[in-house]
Amino acid sequence: MSDHTLARPAAAAAPGDPAARPWWRDAVIYQVYVRSFAAGPGQPAVAGAGNLAGVRSRLRYLADLGVDAVWFNPWYPSPMADAGYDVADYRAIEPSFGTLDEAEKLIAEAHELGIRIILDVVPNHGSDAQPWFTAALAAAPGSPERDRFIFRPGRGPDGDRPPNNWESEFGGPAWTRVPGPGGEPGEWYLHLFTPEQPDFNWGNADVRAEFEDVLRFWFDRGVDGFRIDSAVLLAKDPAMADFDPDAGVHPFVDRDEVHAVYRAWRSIADGYPGDRVLIGEVWLPDVERTTRYLHPGELQTVFNFDFLRCPWDAAELRQVIEATLASHTRVDAPATWVLSNHDVIRNVTRYGRADTSFDRPGYRIGEPTDLVLGTRRARAAALLSLSLPGTAYIYQGEELGLWEVEDLADEDRQDPMWQRSGRQHLGRDGCRVPLPWSGRRPPFGFTDGEAPTWLPQPSSWAGLTVEAESADPASMLSLYRYALQVRHAQPAFTVDSFAWRPAPAEVLCFRRGADVTVMINLSDRPVELPTHEEILAASQPVIRGGSLPPDTGVWLRTRPR
Ligand code: NOJ
Repeated sequence: MSDHTLARPAAAAAPGDPAARPWWRDAVIYQVYVRSFAAGPGQPAVAGAGNLAGVRSRLRYLADLGVDAVWFNPWYPSPMADAGYDVADYRAIEPSFGTLDEAEKLIAEAHELGIRIILDVVPNHGSDAQPWFTAALAAAPGSPERDRFIFRPGRGPDGDRPPNNWESEFGGPAWTRVPGPGGEPGEWYLHLFTPEQPDFNWGNADVRAEFEDVLRFWFDRGVDGFRIDSAVLLAKDPAMADFDPDAGVHPFVDRDEVHAVYRAWRSIADGYPGDRVLIGEVWLPDVERTTRYLHPGELQTVFNFDFLRCPWDAAELRQVIEATLASHTRVDAPATWVLSNHDVIRNVTRYGRADTSFDRPGYRIGEPTDLVLGTRRARAAALLSLSLPGTAYIYQGEELGLWEVEDLADEDRQDPMWQRSGRQHLGRDGCRVPLPWSGRRPPFGFTDGEAPTWLPQPSSWAGLTVEAESADPASMLSLYRYALQVRHAQPAFTVDSFAWRPAPAEVLCFRRGADVTVMINLSDRPVELPTHEEILAASQPVIRGGSLPPDTGVWLRTRPR
């Protein structure tokens, strides 16, 4: 086992002592999308894409930002049919990103800087380039090789209709037919995403053993946890019945059998020192079903998609915060606060629209957007998400105030959603454009030289580079750096206590710990601040005389209760 594990100090902690609190209860986790984070200095970037050398060269940036952990989107070898969520080998590194040796060095270097490492594990489906799938195609129907995936005969006399009516997440049927042994049309296999992402059969013992071994492989290398992709989809109805919206149980979403998988995974994680964490991508409409994944002995946290989806509206945010805290308290799990990720429209853009409600990526592209207003609200939202009890996530570029790149040329779009939807939905490329680091023109220091990035950056990002924002105390980056410093310094942010304080309807106001009060003004007029001793952080200057402007957030030190 690696000696790079970043473990808590071994000293015994008394109950209630903050040292006894696992790190993942209050961590700030930064999401790195390797392809778009940074390219290594002095290396030709493969097709203008980022790599592990780039991440290593920017670890100091992450440490200075003040994050506790980094979650990497899949970094494994992949034909990139779905940007790495089609994994060809779970125990290696995508060659255009680097090598396993570099990944091990990266883990060690991050740990030295006090940053933990979370990997993305993709258990619902693999890549069609994976040796198991190649072997399954070469094997006969009914063979053990095919049983690791979900192969079925088609319907109809010639078997030329898919086995059931399930649809792929990206459009079209969730089944693809493969040739039989003599080249004649044969069985169909299931893929809830693209045809290049065949679903595994979680009823198969090889599959369960394989993933348990994959977890150990990376835990042995010092990794601190996993984000579990499509965590609610693994178990399928063995009868493969048609999806019927009126039936009580869904044939593949959130079936009870899936919980046994996570109980097994949790006992593996708990077998390692240093509080390893399992984070579920659990996107369900029902909060009670969601928190079942957080029962003792299962996952420690899940992403809060209700918060991510919430419009810029005080009543709706209050309701989401209350429901989240109530449901998580019941199972003693920390809440998480997520404003954006690699699958959704950047929040600066959404908050700058007349209708700030959630939008599937690429659906409402081109709606008029006031980026100044969106940025102002995103600054206030940062102070909101970083002040609520639990774990906060920052998707790379959020700390720079990047907006969605809505005007990519059609030929530049790479998200399978674009092609699979018959070019109806533009897809998620607009939130995946490489980060601007320095200089006045693309590629903004992302790669050495002038080579364009794999998705072109807008030249209007010149003021949003890390270099430009570092020199500007009023920038989004300066706000994030400062807020994270304050969050780490104030014990009130690492306790569970949270209480609403009286405030006008369009204002959120709550107390954290004994002496911190947070106020977020979502109304269109200034509101008076509560009596306070000190302003700890503000997303805009507070009005002389003590009132908070519209679309502004503030952290106050208030008199201890
Ligand atoms: C969720 C991931 O976040 C998304 O990017 C991916 O396309 C699907 N799962 C399929 O793996």
